[in-house]
Amino acid sequence: MKALVTGGAGFIGSNLCRALVENGWDVIVLDDFSAGFRENLLETLNSARSNHAELLVGDCTKSEDVRKALEGVEVVFHLAANPEVRIEFNSPANCFRQNVYATHVLLEAFRSSSAHTIIFTSTSAIYGEASVLPTPEYYAPLEPISVYGASKLAGEVLVTSYCRAFDKRGIILRLANVVGPKSNHGVVHDFVSKLRQNPRQLEILGDGTQAKSYLYVDDCVDALLRACRSSQNDVEIFNVGSEDLMDVKRVAMIVSEEMRLNDVSLEFVQGALDGRGWVGDVKNMLLDITRIKTTGWNPRYTSEQAIRLATRSVVLPTYVPTLEQTSIDIGRS
Ligand SMILES: NC(=O)c1ccc[n+]([C@@H]2O[C@H](COP(=O)([O-])OP(=O)(O)OC[C@H]3O[C@@H](n4cnc5c(N)ncnc54)[C@H](O)[C@@H]3O)[C@@H](O)[C@H]2O)c1
Repeated sequence: MKALVTGGAGFIGSNLCRALVENGWDVIVLDDFSAGFRENLLETLNSARSNHAELLVGDCTKSEDVRKALEGVEVVFHLAANPEVRIEFNSPANCFRQNVYATHVLLEAFRSSSAHTIIFTSTSAIYGEASVLPTPEYYAPLEPISVYGASKLAGEVLVTSYCRAFDKRGIILRLANVVGPKSNHGVVHDFVSKLRQNPRQLEILGDGTQAKSYLYVDDCVDALLRACRSSQNDVEIFNVGSEDLMDVKRVAMIVSEEMRLNDVSLEFVQGALDGRGWVGDVKNMLLDITRIKTTGWNPRYTSEQAIRLATRSVVLPTYVPTLEQTSIDIGRS
């Protein structure tokens, strides 16, 4: 099977590429390096199966780059996007260009290509402030409170309509907060960087009561592969997350513990109304994962285990988690 992974030099993309190549796929990566790094792919590009992976530096908003990348491809994993919710780091215009326009350009090339399936990484942010937790896929109305969430919802709708109109298969995964090795954004990366600068005090955006579910990147990659194999319908949507949630204060405690820091004082900085960290920060998020479980997928890690493993991977980049280490060292949830 030959796959195109857009955004394959990023956090989730590079972990996915490694798994695809290990599982016998041929992989083309298309990435413009706006946030990704060649180093993220070194393991894959230097592996025994390195001749099954090819890196194309190109932009999903340019149809000539996308058409070239799609040659001979059967399955497209579309991950390229700007995943930042905070508007000061991802303007509405940027969200539109990288998340909506890029998806449109890709779908235009996809509809007349040899590829039959597209897998799109969406987000829990499309639900906005859902009144039902855990939130199922059929929850409505979908009212994102961030422009990022809106841009990913627009991407979902484009994928759905192109697949229905042009007889292709589309799989949409709505991901919780993904953490793990090669991440250069998000709460764990942010806390570790701040604690390295000042091991006595940690600045937390918001009042620390924001409670969310965290997913370890290996579980995310397994879900991408599993959904791709198991999905039967022309378009299917799956929530993907762990089954518990934890608040940001607890995340701060775990990160401090894993860094062997005692007596870290927490300083809360109000970024937006109601104790949110920033405008568009959803206060409580937990996804109902009943549907993806019917494919045989189950999260291996809880939110707490995911945060512990992710912290270790940032602090010690060569750290490789195993289930044994997980049950001995971090089974404290
Ligand atoms: N990380 C999370 O917690 C999370 C949660 C929900 C959904 N997602 C989604 O998963 C996907 C991957 O997220 P990530 O955390 O790995 O982000 P990331 O920033 O690490 O990776 C995105 C990659 O896309 C590339 N890219 C961006 N615009 C591009 C363009 N126009 N052309 C080519 N390449 C481009 C970047 O260089 C980067 O390598 C995104 O679609 C994101 O919306 C992520």
